[in-house]
Amino acid sequence: MDDEQAADGSGRLHVCVAAAKRGGRAALDSFRSELLVETKAGGPMDAVTAVDRAVQELVFDHVADEYPDDAVVGEEDDALKRVPDEGAAWVVDPIDGTNNYVHGDGVWMTSVAACRDGEPVAAANYAPAADDLYVAGDGGTRRNGEPATTSDAASPEAFLVNPIFGVSAADRRELARVVDTVCSEFGDLRRVGCAQAALSGVATGELEATVSTVRLNDWDTVAGVHLVRQAGGRATDVHGDRWTPGSTGLIASNGEAHGALVDAFEPAE
Ligand code: IPD
Ligand code: CA
Ligand code: CA
Repeated sequence: MDDEQAADGSGRLHVCVAAAKRGGRAALDSFRSELLVETKAGGPMDAVTAVDRAVQELVFDHVADEYPDDAVVGEEDDALKRVPDEGAAWVVDPIDGTNNYVHGDGVWMTSVAACRDGEPVAAANYAPAADDLYVAGDGGTRRNGEPATTSDAASPEAFLVNPIFGVSAADRRELARVVDTVCSEFGDLRRVGCAQAALSGVATGELEATVSTVRLNDWDTVAGVHLVRQAGGRATDVHGDRWTPGSTGLIASNGEAHGALVDAFEPAE
């Protein structure tokens, strides 16, 4: 199936796919080359490169060519930082997994989602190093054109769980608590270093769950949550209520033991 068919007839889905592929391919041109790495407010692990900024601009330009009146949310520079509650908006992470990217590890993605009134309606995550494309409109999730569904594993002991946290001291403390719980109550830990790759992995059965107990950025989550839901999985906040951008925490899973995940990771009052 080609990209046109993958678009399910939706103009916005088509733009998600085309913009993610265009941005991802541009980033791939500089992958494993000499890069000037700057650090942001979070310190040495909060990295950014000129490629991140250039790819965001490329993706924004692509979106603006087709939907000039829509709001655009993006990680870099002075773009909007929150999905508006009303109207049409786009959410872009030009390189999700910048630390992997600068280390020459191929697990990174260009992520583009389209939202309507604060909810995702279409999403594309493109992993250029693997040439893997994860796409969802309103007719299910596809990986490289093939229908994808979440895993059917039901026993927590068989779950691969990926925690998603930032680099602040508070996030690190929560990460340590979550890692401990994964190791004692679930099958095994994964930490792929790219939030959108982890969510894409839940959507396709590569992982059973991703977990965070803190508020995550919209560009790290919105596209992937849509992929998970369209693949038959579930995404809630840390208390088990339906996840929306701005929620505290994110538990995205195959839905088979979601209650056990919430019980395990919900912080004590
Ligand atoms: C980061 C990655 C990482 C996650 C962080 C994100 P970036 O995004 O997705 O896996 O743990 O919370 O900030 O900075 O590489 O775009
Ligand atoms: Ca990111
Ligand atoms: Ca990024």
